[in-house]
Amino acid sequence: MCGVLRVMLWSSCPFSSAHTKVCMVCNIFKKGKCVEGKGNCTLEEGGECRARDIYSFTFKDGFFYNYTILDCSNPCKAWRLVRGYLKVSSFCCKSRNFCNRYYGKIAENFVH
Ligand SMILES: *[C@@H]1O[C@H](CO)[C@@H](O)[C@H](O)[C@H]1NC(C)=O
Ligand SMILES: *[C@@H]1O[C@H](CO)[C@@H](O)[C@H](O)[C@H]1NC(C)=O
Repeated sequence: MCGVLRVMLWSSCPFSSAHTKVCMVCNIFKKGKCVEGKGNCTLEEGGECRARDIYSFTFKDGFFYNYTILDCSNPCKAWRLVRGYLKVSSFCCKSRNFCNRYYGKIAENFVH
């Protein structure tokens, strides 16, 4: 039943099958919207949805959250990276379809 519905209402059956997990893809995701490069990707065995928060640096404000990149990753690892004027926080999830779209900017709380 859910399988038939999934064709029409894909995201309404997030737990129906381990083989049909879909993640959101976006090159520039800002304020809950995809500004550039919107799409989706299908998870293969071992893969997870990934969200990478990109922080940019200015001398006036220091590091500030700029945007998020969404994609699939296999394997996916949560990590933080600071290199020069670039700071990236990476998150993984596979709890439901498109779960990575909810991860943008979570890290802002612990960036100072
Ligand atoms: C996923 O992407 C494909 C190809 O771009 C598209 O046909 C499909 O509608 C997308 N599915 C969802 C749920 O966005
Ligand atoms: C923020 O991201 C946009 C899009 O990539 C980029 O053009 C802009 O330079 C970034 N802002 C800073 C201060 O680096």
